Amino acid sequence: MEGCSKTLRIEEEYVQRHKTSKALYEKARNLFPRGVTHDSRYMRPFPIYITRAKGCRKWDVDGNEYIDYWMGHGALILGHLHPIVTEAVLDQAKKGTHYGASHELEIQWAEKITKLVPSARGGFVEFTSSGTEATSMALRLARAYTGSKKIVRFAGHFHGWHDYLLPGYQAPYKAGGGCAGIPEEALQNIVVIPPNNVEALEDAMKGGDVAGVILEPSGASMGHVPMEGDFLRKLRSLTEKYQSVLIFDEVVTGFRDAPGGAQEAYGIIPDLTTLGKIVGGGYPGAAVTGKRDIMGMLDYELAPKRSRLGKVPHPGTFNANPQSAAAGNACLGIIAEGKVNPYVNALGEKMKKRLNEVFDELRIKGMAWGGSPSIVNIGFGISPEDIKVSSFDDLARLSKLLGNPGDGALNKAMINRGVHFMGQRAILSVAHTETDIEFTVNAFRDSLKQMLDEGLLNQYRLK
Ligand SMILES: Cc1ncc(COP(=O)(O)O)c(C=O)c1O
Repeated sequence: MEGCSKTLRIEEEYVQRHKTSKALYEKARNLFPRGVTHDSRYMRPFPIYITRAKGCRKWDVDGNEYIDYWMGHGALILGHLHPIVTEAVLDQAKKGTHYGASHELEIQWAEKITKLVPSARGGFVEFTSSGTEATSMALRLARAYTGSKKIVRFAGHFHGWHDYLLPGYQAPYKAGGGCAGIPEEALQNIVVIPPNNVEALEDAMKGGDVAGVILEPSGASMGHVPMEGDFLRKLRSLTEKYQSVLIFDEVVTGFRDAPGGAQEAYGIIPDLTTLGKIVGGGYPGAAVTGKRDIMGMLDYELAPKRSRLGKVPHPGTFNANPQSAAAGNACLGIIAEGKVNPYVNALGEKMKKRLNEVFDELRIKGMAWGGSPSIVNIGFGISPEDIKVSSFDDLARLSKLLGNPGDGALNKAMINRGVHFMGQRAILSVAHTETDIEFTVNAFRDSLKQMLDEGLLNQYRLK
């Protein structure tokens, strides 16, 4: 990680340092619509291309080294290539990758889930291949169990990309912003309400026809708009009162905020929990888990007793595939030892504090904050009051305030200095150290100074 040139501007330097990535992106443009394979990896003028990764580091095709803060979109709480997970996967690969039959590893994997996740205890587990499938299944279970159609969700919360839960993720929240291709009919049974607003929640639920309420318990988009504990407690009691299924989408927070996820951290137990990312130990795998009678809607014997429509179907070629089962089982075994979560949470607190010191030192209006303790959000132009959101107007104001100056210049400036933030967010793992955090803080300070020099932060300068 060499120092940056003083004379080049952020974007020029980015282009110069990443010539091979640029050439690859030119090929990719002809193969993939938007040139990348996940919306959030889209970046102008082009993204970086990575060849290998280990621990908290990764290396690109131009030979640059990075401290990685994407960490597999949050899946890699143990870091890249954790030896125990890697060995389990390699070992399994030699025994076969798909049996088209049941296997013991899926039992061990599910046993670990039922031990760790409070809402899974005494319940059932159903494996899927992705978080999107898990949230889709959770809605179907809630509908099959209650016989109602309506789902309540919170504006800005992300639950994957299927038809029923994309509406409400982006502004204009109620009108289905960012939902091209999703039929109007899918929107009809989705009620989008603002977070942390008891009145709106009661209003949505009082008809008694809500099948389920789903949310990211740490708040919208990996804790970007934090949820309040008191509100979550009220949500639990209202869903009980109206007999709606409470679904915690713990695809991100599961095994991260605590061994048992955000539900353990808050002490609030939902009826169903969706898991992804960490549950698969960095390999494709996800799950729905929770109460026996609700999960029982998947059972050939239980479901027909409850519903004239019979069971909820669930095929899926890669459900509980042996590779992911091996990785997930190994990863959850390490989580169960209890050392991972306190470590990453403390590191997250430290990182937030140090980044906020840089904002203060340079007199820039901005903030580092979290909903999940080990995920750090970074935004220009806001203060703590702005992330207390309980109305659509609050949300709209927050998204207007949150700047991304210079077409993502912060990201490029950080990449030029050997740090790969996930947009304006950093996800931590056990592979990160305090030294990595200090390196990152220095890179952040230098990046902000360069942005100030280039006039990109004028509107955020404090007197
Ligand atoms: C909270 C949450 N739920 C669901 C999903 C969807 O998971 P997947 O990308 O595995 O489909 C994500 C993905 O980032 C997520 O953050």
